[in-house]
Amino acid sequence: MVALYLLMVILPVVMGAGKARFDNYQVIRVVPQTLRQVDLLRHLSDTNHDLSFWTGPTRANASVDIMVPPHKLPEFEDILQRFNFKNEVYIEDVQKVIDQEQGATPRSGFGWTNYYRLQNIYDWLDSLVKQYPGIVTSIVGGKSYEGRQIKGVKVSYKSGNKGVFVEAGIHAREWISPATVTYILNQLLTSKNASIRDIAENYDWYIFPSTNPDGYEYTHTTNRMWRKTRSRGLLCVGADPNRNWGFHWMDGGASSNECSETYAGSKAFSEIETKSLSEYITSIADKIQVYLAFHSYSQLLLIPYGHSTEHISNYDTLMSIGTKAKAALAKRYGTQYTLGNIAETIYVASGGSMDWVRGTFNTPITYTYELRDTGRYGFTLPASQIIPTGEETLDSVLTILQEARKVIR
Ligand SMILES: *[C@@H]1O[C@H](CO)[C@@H](O)[C@H](O)[C@H]1NC(C)=O
Ligand SMILES: *[C@@H]1O[C@H](CO)[C@@H](O)[C@H](O)[C@H]1NC(C)=O
Ligand SMILES: [Zn+2]
Repeated sequence: MVALYLLMVILPVVMGAGKARFDNYQVIRVVPQTLRQVDLLRHLSDTNHDLSFWTGPTRANASVDIMVPPHKLPEFEDILQRFNFKNEVYIEDVQKVIDQEQGATPRSGFGWTNYYRLQNIYDWLDSLVKQYPGIVTSIVGGKSYEGRQIKGVKVSYKSGNKGVFVEAGIHAREWISPATVTYILNQLLTSKNASIRDIAENYDWYIFPSTNPDGYEYTHTTNRMWRKTRSRGLLCVGADPNRNWGFHWMDGGASSNECSETYAGSKAFSEIETKSLSEYITSIADKIQVYLAFHSYSQLLLIPYGHSTEHISNYDTLMSIGTKAKAALAKRYGTQYTLGNIAETIYVASGGSMDWVRGTFNTPITYTYELRDTGRYGFTLPASQIIPTGEETLDSVLTILQEARKVIR
């Protein structure tokens, strides 16, 4: 066992196996038009782990983005043809897009024209604590399998505020999520705009830019397309931390196959990241009125639940606030979002963090963002889009919080 471990884990590192490359990997957008075609894609995603589903099969006429390695292209194209799938190549060469993802300016310190390593983000959070004494405090939301902290900050200008919880980076490869959330955090502290100052100072903020720190580091050091945690299973590594929360766990849209990208884990909260973060959330739940989770990509604004199409008690309120938020987001750059209950309009998915928060604490205002884009860059959104994404997203967060104030007590 030890020998096997050495062979599989230590050796490639020592030998400098380095980063996975994605030369000539294509992302193909497939549109299943019948239920049979949807089922076929589901079957492929469960069984063929050479294919990486960037977005999952959901329903007829909803597109599915699949990354295909070059050696699998002939076989995959054959399947597309044989079953008459409508399809289009969305990314010709994933490695090329990865190579162009980072900004032109060299990376040092911290900012929003590049994507940053975990330590840069954490150092920046620490610097805020020093720079804004009595306003920004360091908080730890939990820990990771490899022993990293889930580090965050609390921003509080006065006592008695309602709480907003901001969760980002739970899926490792969705780099625009931590980048957007740190952009928003910076604006809360530095903006002179009266509306931004209002939400900054009249809510308490609990902000966690990287809730899957092992996975995030792994996307920087080893495999840009890593999604899951890094816990060691029998056959494969990691579980999907957004299918692992203990509310309607494994109730659709999640996999029991350890090697799947949507593996729900061996049980609810099997992952230390979700377990420890859920304990932290529990400890402050009575203060939290708003829960915002940030993912990418697809440009969606989602409300609970993922396991059921049933409308939750304040569905109309969340839809009405969501409609205004969507309009606010579109105003600056025309970026169009789709709004809806996860299961009804988007896809069935269970075990997500937002659903657990809502289902456990009845938190009134909860949204999950799927940020830019709609698939031309997918997870590898160029760093030049961080600031525009941050700006438009903050416009919508502002609207949500202004509207939320009217309905929460
Ligand atoms: C999907 O789109 C096709 C072509 O536009 C249409 O004929 C079919 O009814 C649609 N199916 C569903 C389930 O919406
Ligand atoms: C403050 O920011 C909001 C949201 O971006 C914007 O609508 C508003 O015009 C800004 N106010 C000023 C005075 O610039
Ligand atoms: Zn995600």
